[in-house]
Amino acid sequence: MGKTFADDLLAWYDREARSLPWRIPPGGPLQDPYRVLVSEIMLQQTTVAVVQTRFVAFLDQFPDLFALARAPEADVLAAWAGLGYYRRARSLHACAKALVDDHSGEFPSTEEALKQLPGIGEYTAAAIASIAFGQPAVVVDGNIERVMARVHSIATPLPKGKKDIKAAAADVSPTDRPGDYAQALMDLGARICRPKAADCLLCPVRRHCRIQREGDPLALPVKAPRKAKQTVEGSIYVAVNGDDCVLCEDRPDDGLFAGMLGLPGGGWDGRTPPVSLHGGEVCGSFSHILTHRRLAIDVHRADAPSADQNFRWVPIDHARRTMPTLFRKALDQALSSDGS
Ligand code: ADE
Repeated sequence: MGKTFADDLLAWYDREARSLPWRIPPGGPLQDPYRVLVSEIMLQQTTVAVVQTRFVAFLDQFPDLFALARAPEADVLAAWAGLGYYRRARSLHACAKALVDDHSGEFPSTEEALKQLPGIGEYTAAAIASIAFGQPAVVVDGNIERVMARVHSIATPLPKGKKDIKAAAADVSPTDRPGDYAQALMDLGARICRPKAADCLLCPVRRHCRIQREGDPLALPVKAPRKAKQTVEGSIYVAVNGDDCVLCEDRPDDGLFAGMLGLPGGGWDGRTPPVSLHGGEVCGSFSHILTHRRLAIDVHRADAPSADQNFRWVPIDHARRTMPTLFRKALDQALSSDGS
């Protein structure tokens, strides 16, 4: 019988796999599920290049499930600073606690059981089941979606086309080496079958690919037009004292950036700006994109209020390292405009 799609892909992966800190080289033993969980959640938010450093640092700080489960939430959120989308960090922490409290610290090995855990959706469950437990789960992320849409020439616009793409992905999935296979598809999507360039001449699965025979690979996948993001305006107040500290607040337990260290402000997050800081001059403005909206922020230089229990002074360096990027941008803008 001729070589299948999976045979050709795995033979390429055996030669060309990227060496990444969360990865066992091709043909090796199964990966520790904790490492798969952390890396896959990080990779849903940012690039492989960023995750390479941040994954290693996160594992130094929280080397296993138990270390993560017993850490205070503030430490976990601080370790996530700059990676964006803090809700994922909170649910990663909740997931570690649930595994320790309800599963004696052992990961379940099936997709169905994994999906019952906080923060583990369809993609993450399939990635853990295949990479850490060798289960033939069908892993489909954005990159794999693109590869499959092209290989099978599926032109149904996303997100409607997702179902057809998943079915096509299941059709060519092997039962052997499922973890290597999933990661081989990710490497193919990152290196050969890229969003804006397809190196079909170098592609190890070109003879299985319909679109390279029939049309333009770059025309797929088709995406339904995105809704424009709504712009929301607001303010952030920067008050600095003589000890190189900046006035911060611990954000409420729900809403945007829940539980994180932030700078005072409001409007952009549905909260009212603090009256006690009103009136500071505007020293800059910037825009910041969140998942569903664009924020237009005015940065105000502020004097500290005489008393407000909700605020506390935090050394500027520490604040910069632990606050979400939105606040770091505001702080940097206020500091760089200082005295001008
Ligand atoms: N993107 C998402 N998961 C990945 C992985 N395990 N390896 C490389 N890139 C990825």
